[in-house]
Amino acid sequence: MVTMLPSGLLLGAYGNSLISLLLVCCLPPSGARAQQYQMRLEVENTLVPAGGSFLVNCSTDCPNPRLIILETSLAKKPVGNGLGWAAFLLSNVTSDSQVLCSGFCNDIQMVGSSEITVYRFPERVELAPLPRWQPVGENLTMTCQVAGGAPRTNLTVVLLRGEEELSRQPAVGEPAEVTFTVAAGREDHLANFSCRIPEQVRPRNRGADGSGTSSCSRLPFSPALPITAPHLVVPRILEVGTTRSVNCILEGLFPASEAQVHLALGNQTLNSTVESHGDTISATATAVARAEQEGAQEIVCNITLGNDGREAREKLTVYSFWGPTINLSEPNASEGTAVTVTCAAGARVQVMLEGLPAAAPGQPAQFQLNATEMDDRRSFFCNATLEVDGETLHRNSSVQLRVLYGPKIDQAKCPQRLTWKEKTTHVLQCQARGNPDPQMHCFHEGSHVELPIGVPFFVRLNYTGTYACKASSSRGVHTVTVVMNVQDRNLRAVNIVLGVLAILGVVTTVAALLHVFGVQKRSDTYRVNQGSTWLPLTSRQPEEAVGENPS
Ligand SMILES: *[C@@H]1O[C@H](CO)[C@@H](O)[C@H](O)[C@H]1NC(C)=O
Ligand SMILES: *[C@@H]1O[C@H](CO)[C@@H](O)[C@H](O)[C@H]1NC(C)=O
Ligand SMILES: *[C@@H]1O[C@H](CO)[C@@H](O)[C@H](O)[C@H]1NC(C)=O
Ligand SMILES: *[C@@H]1O[C@H](CO)[C@@H](O)[C@H](O)[C@H]1NC(C)=O
Ligand SMILES: *[C@@H]1O[C@H](CO)[C@@H](O)[C@H](O)[C@H]1NC(C)=O
Ligand SMILES: *[C@@H]1O[C@H](CO)[C@@H](O)[C@H](O)[C@H]1NC(C)=O
Ligand SMILES: *[C@@H]1O[C@H](CO)[C@@H](O)[C@H](O)[C@H]1NC(C)=O
Ligand SMILES: *[C@@H]1O[C@H](CO)[C@@H](O)[C@H](O)[C@H]1NC(C)=O
Ligand SMILES: *[C@@H]1O[C@H](CO)[C@@H](O)[C@H](O)[C@H]1NC(C)=O
Ligand SMILES: *[C@@H]1O[C@H](CO)[C@@H](O)[C@H](O)[C@H]1NC(C)=O
Ligand SMILES: *[C@@H]1O[C@H](CO)[C@@H](O)[C@H](O)[C@H]1NC(C)=O
Ligand SMILES: *[C@@H]1O[C@H](CO)[C@@H](O)[C@H](O)[C@H]1NC(C)=O
Repeated sequence: MVTMLPSGLLLGAYGNSLISLLLVCCLPPSGARAQQYQMRLEVENTLVPAGGSFLVNCSTDCPNPRLIILETSLAKKPVGNGLGWAAFLLSNVTSDSQVLCSGFCNDIQMVGSSEITVYRFPERVELAPLPRWQPVGENLTMTCQVAGGAPRTNLTVVLLRGEEELSRQPAVGEPAEVTFTVAAGREDHLANFSCRIPEQVRPRNRGADGSGTSSCSRLPFSPALPITAPHLVVPRILEVGTTRSVNCILEGLFPASEAQVHLALGNQTLNSTVESHGDTISATATAVARAEQEGAQEIVCNITLGNDGREAREKLTVYSFWGPTINLSEPNASEGTAVTVTCAAGARVQVMLEGLPAAAPGQPAQFQLNATEMDDRRSFFCNATLEVDGETLHRNSSVQLRVLYGPKIDQAKCPQRLTWKEKTTHVLQCQARGNPDPQMHCFHEGSHVELPIGVPFFVRLNYTGTYACKASSSRGVHTVTVVMNVQDRNLRAVNIVLGVLAILGVVTTVAALLHVFGVQKRSDTYRVNQGSTWLPLTSRQPEEAVGENPS
């Protein structure tokens, strides 16, 4: 602003600049000649940082100017002058003020003035702490406080994410509270937010005393998630002492890697392995049921992220299923003794022994038997049933009874009479039953020579005789007598020869008798034939019949 003032008016060096301006304005304009010349006031920048200094050059084109002075309330120092100009350095600018150059040209006062605006950097630019967890999809509200600073009219605050400007708003009030609302996305996870007084408003370094660091940044900002309950996969029933896998999954979590999972069976915390893939977190643990946990229990999966958490609970019944065990009063019973078979199982377990149910759950099933040979290696089967939370569990057990009996030689399997031919190969079969397994031996009664049993042997003549076949075990001995008759081969040949001879003798005798009888008949016929060679056909008939007889 440059104004011409009539000459003669001189303003006090320390007068209020506004008042002086008003005074100047109220003065009537003087002669036209003086108006040709103006007093120029050149300031580097009308925006001056507080406490800074600036150069003012008062100059005029008036050929014979005099008394060029600078009117200001600020501390001034002449730094040079020349024809039609005078320069001053004004320092320690603390508030907005007016500077005024004055001089005379042909006794007419020339005045030039300028408003100096002090730029004061805000003492404090502060971003209020960000929420520790910011739900994704919800708007993030950030407040930036600005204290001090001038001029306030056009002071703006910029919100930055990293170095990216997100929003710009005026700072109104003292201290000014600027609120920014941004839709926080996943990309904002761990982003650095800051608010700052934009560069343009700052002085061009000149005179800035370094107090201008205006940004304030707050480090990690992490969004969390509103979510549904986790999916908990657990067995419905769990036997004491056994282990089962428990799985807890939650999808749509962000940032999944920062979520914490707590898995517990009742008040027992389970060691879990947590994995996160993308937006999904999955925890796996091995649950081991302890005896003191028997009964209705709960498995809890608690996933927390920031201040928020999601929880899932599943019921689980811890049970114990002992048995069934079958007990034999005598596992190795002697034949004829009584054996008690008992099947027992844990409380609430219903047992059934050989199809015979126990009186009530938890009670043993029992029966007695008189051990017989038939019961050796007999298996007893017990079936136990336990109902847990609507589920029926079965378990079986079996045991084998051994009955001590025998030894007994099976008469049917040990022939007592044997007739074999000499020099033939035979096998002597003779079996005995018993538990423990009996040993079988057959000895010749005279010579005490043992006859092999069950293996082929060559039969000799001297094998003939009576044998004592003994089955023996720790329980006793059972003996059967076997008589063997071995036939001599030579004796048989003689018999054949004798037989043949006897037959021959009989044949010879018969032949001789027939011969005698046959000669008598022939002489009769002969006599008939002697008479005539040719006989009528009828007379020959008897001759033919005679001729057919054997001779
Ligand atoms: C002041 O202004 C005059 C005229 O424009 C010029 O000649 C002179 O060099 C200036 N002085 C300074 C210190 O800038
Ligand atoms: C600047 O001015 C203030 C008061 O206006 C004063 O207290 C201070 O001493 C001055 N500083 C200098 C360097 O002249
Ligand atoms: C977030 O802010 C925008 C405007 O900035 C608004 O339109 C939107 O409804 C807000 N969303 C929520 C969830 O508050
Ligand atoms: C304030 O800003 C507006 C618009 O940006 C501009 O027109 C005005 O001159 C500025 N005021 C000051 C004192 O800088
Ligand atoms: C936030 O600032 C810290 C420290 O300056 C830096 O290590 C980190 O990388 C920044 N985060 C982002 C997302 O730029
Ligand atoms: C869990 O609870 C049982 C009783 O319900 C208690 O005896 C046991 O000490 C508790 N265990 C822990 C680790 O708190
Ligand atoms: C859990 O795991 C840690 C380390 O793997 C182990 O030292 C601890 O005994 C485990 N606790 C249970 C209850 O298994
Ligand atoms: C989930 O676990 C955390 C700590 O592990 C606990 O503070 C919070 O109360 C639990 N939430 C529920 C619902 O039990
Ligand atoms: C099995 O039976 C025997 C004899 O009756 C007895 O001494 C033993 O204690 C029983 N054992 C069980 C487990 O019942
Ligand atoms: C076993 O059975 C035999 C014959 O049937 C009988 O003589 C004996 O007394 C029975 N023993 C028992 C213990 O019942
Ligand atoms: C055990 O008994 C139940 C009924 O009590 C029956 O359904 C099941 O088939 C039995 N199991 C065996 C192996 O016999
Ligand atoms: C029969 O005689 C043979 C020798 O010829 C002898 O080795 C064998 O022991 C005898 N057998 C009997 C049953 O006497």
